[in-house]
Amino acid sequence: MHGSIFVELREYVGATYGTGQWEAVLDGSGIGYKDYVANQVYPDLEAVRIVAAAADRTGRPLHELLEDFGDYLATSLIERFVSLVDPAWKTLDLLEHVEETIHTVIRSSNAKADPPRLRCRRLSRTEVVVEYDSPRKMCSLAKGLIRGLARFYGDPIVLEESACMLKGDVACELYVRLGDRR
Ligand code: HEM
Repeated sequence: MHGSIFVELREYVGATYGTGQWEAVLDGSGIGYKDYVANQVYPDLEAVRIVAAAADRTGRPLHELLEDFGDYLATSLIERFVSLVDPAWKTLDLLEHVEETIHTVIRSSNAKADPPRLRCRRLSRTEVVVEYDSPRKMCSLAKGLIRGLARFYGDPIVLEESACMLKGDVACELYVRLGDRR
């Protein structure tokens, strides 16, 4: 997993749970102290262990914490990878283009980075459907990212998961519509 995700996870834990909590979470994960840097790539298992330790420490269900982190992460990713984000985009435009103009570029600029291969279809001016089937099964992170994008752009959205790998489906299907907040 890309180092930028670990760096943002450290920021998220500090901002949400307080100073010293990152070190305590790392300790609880069994990793001990480690200085993650944004331009490196680290084993997926370390991210899984850190998120599990954070959930354990805070008493929050793991997928709830992962979704909350995704919400936080969206703004940080937009700012960190600003050159890949068209300033004219809003939530649905970014979702429509995330695979071919963002994840593909990240994959080709770092041989070890492997963002999920999302299939995003614009159904209409107000609807997008995102299909996610990464073996990492982090659809909660994807849902949080979508909510975070919507918050960043000030777009009210309805988000529905009509299929989910965690429930045995072959892929997760995330349906996003501009509309009322839920
Ligand atoms: C500005 C927009 C975005 C940027 C710059 C970005 C960038 C990245 C990067 C750098 C990673 C780590 C890849 C790796 O470690 O190999 C990643 C992973 C991920 N991205 Fe994106 N992303 C963006 C938007 C999105 C959106 C909108 C979604 C979902 C709808 C999404 C879903 C995910 C998920 C779930 C992962 C975790 C890895 C996995 O599940 O395989 N990303 N992204």
